[in-house]
Amino acid sequence: MFAVPDNTVVIAENRAALRHPVRVALEYAAARDRWRHLLRYDPDHRFSTKIAGDAAEEVWLMGWLPGQQADLHDHAQSSGAFTIVSGRLAETVARPGLTELHALNAGQSRVFGPGYVHQVRNDGPDPAISIHVYRAGGRAMRPYHLDPVSGPVRD
Ligand SMILES: [Fe+2]
Repeated sequence: MFAVPDNTVVIAENRAALRHPVRVALEYAAARDRWRHLLRYDPDHRFSTKIAGDAAEEVWLMGWLPGQQADLHDHAQSSGAFTIVSGRLAETVARPGLTELHALNAGQSRVFGPGYVHQVRNDGPDPAISIHVYRAGGRAMRPYHLDPVSGPVRD
């Protein structure tokens, strides 16, 4: 006989948390029947709605008209991922002393975690759709501004 340490056993309710958030986002992106009836494009505000979720994970659908954006922000203690379903989005990631620009097309994904500060914008000519997965804290958003010397600063 030998003892099996508790942390080697996968407990059923923890299985969802073991799936990579990009995989979750891609599965929702492919399952359009789960959210197509919820999708809107709002000319006044970037559209977003929660399409699934529990205490451990939230999945959000977003609709971006050309020119709409999410201003510079982080997601507090949340981690997760987002994937582009259609259209294209430009993501600017701000770090101290460094700004990265990512041009994201349908099928591409990005991951994030605590300390990840970014701005996302539809720079394309067509509407865009994206799916976002947030873990351990839900869809918290904290605003930042970009200081030319020190980089991202929380507002
Ligand atoms: Fe974000």
